[in-house]
Amino acid sequence: MANIEPIRVAVTGAAGQIGYSLLFRIASGDMLGKDQSVILQLLEVTPALKALQGVVMELRDCAFPLLADIVTSDDPNVAFKDADYALLVGAMPRKAGMERGDLLSANGGIFKPQGEALNKVASRDVKVLVVGNPANTNALIAQQNAPDLDPGQFTAMVRLDHNRAVSQLAEKTGKPVTAIQNLTIWGNHSSTQYPDLSQATVDGKPALDLVDRDWYETQYIPTVAKRGAAIIEARGASSAASAASAAIDHMHDWALGTPEGQWVSMGIPSDGSYGVPEGLIYGFPVKCSGGKYEIVQGLDVSDFSRGKMDATAQELTEERDEVRKLGLFK
Ligand code: NAD
Ligand code: LMR
Repeated sequence: MANIEPIRVAVTGAAGQIGYSLLFRIASGDMLGKDQSVILQLLEVTPALKALQGVVMELRDCAFPLLADIVTSDDPNVAFKDADYALLVGAMPRKAGMERGDLLSANGGIFKPQGEALNKVASRDVKVLVVGNPANTNALIAQQNAPDLDPGQFTAMVRLDHNRAVSQLAEKTGKPVTAIQNLTIWGNHSSTQYPDLSQATVDGKPALDLVDRDWYETQYIPTVAKRGAAIIEARGASSAASAASAAIDHMHDWALGTPEGQWVSMGIPSDGSYGVPEGLIYGFPVKCSGGKYEIVQGLDVSDFSRGKMDATAQELTEERDEVRKLGLFK
């Protein structure tokens, strides 16, 4: 039986490509569990509200037992009111030939007022996931404009990279994805990210004993890091269903916990662990339980890893400096 008290889930950019995959999965219980009813609170820009009504009609036509209500608005103060979860998807996607950081000036401005609105009206325990690119720095903008919320409530999505990394390794080793454990996406959701196999296992065996080092460095890492661009090139539009699926995974694990002995990658505020400058929203290995995440500590960092982890931190530092110059926070 569904929980009587529904949970409020806000989603921005709800009439967009990702929204079209995401909302149906949230409403069917994939994110918060098959016994948890939800109220969807959907934010769009004014010109997209008509299209959003069409999506709402379809959501209602599914007769999802867990979908208690749907609210739509072009006002973040309405869409975020008492929200327990907020998935900030609404932002422009990049086009072929662009890096995600090129979207900073176009999209950064969206996240200041949304951070302010979350600060004002969301549940004091709201869990925020930023998907809109550049996701890590947009999460930082929202967080910095929400001084009354715990900074740790703001996270960015590197789970799509994590899932891509799992899938690529499974394909290479001829094993199912379920055989793969404990790989990490360090840093930025950008081409500087570091998909790290140094702790990963395949059926319990060290992954790096099963694959060629040259393949790892020259094929695997760039394939994972540049997968978003490869999809744009092939599909003529940026990833959508896989991005929605990763957002479901990120929130699911944060809310309901990671499996015993395993970790996942989340973009979270650095506490200085592993020498990552404090405050950057950076991909770390995390374990979740009781609605909280914790960085996995004590992993060995080779010189190779150190160089990659520092390079992606450097890019995030530069993005932070750029948005400060844009006046999006102090
Ligand atoms: P889309 O253009 O199909 O949809 C975006 C929607 O956001 C549009 O409907 C638009 O009207 C809406 N929007 C724009 N400004 C808004 C605002 N201020 N408030 C509310 N809604 C607003 O794009 P998409 O394919 O759904 O992608 C959305 C974002 O997610 C892009 O920035 C894309 O690059 C990013 N993305 C991130 C990841 C990741 O792994 N972090 C993966 C895929 C896509
Ligand atoms: C992705 O990784 O697929 C998204 O961030 C879209 C993009 O611009 O690559």
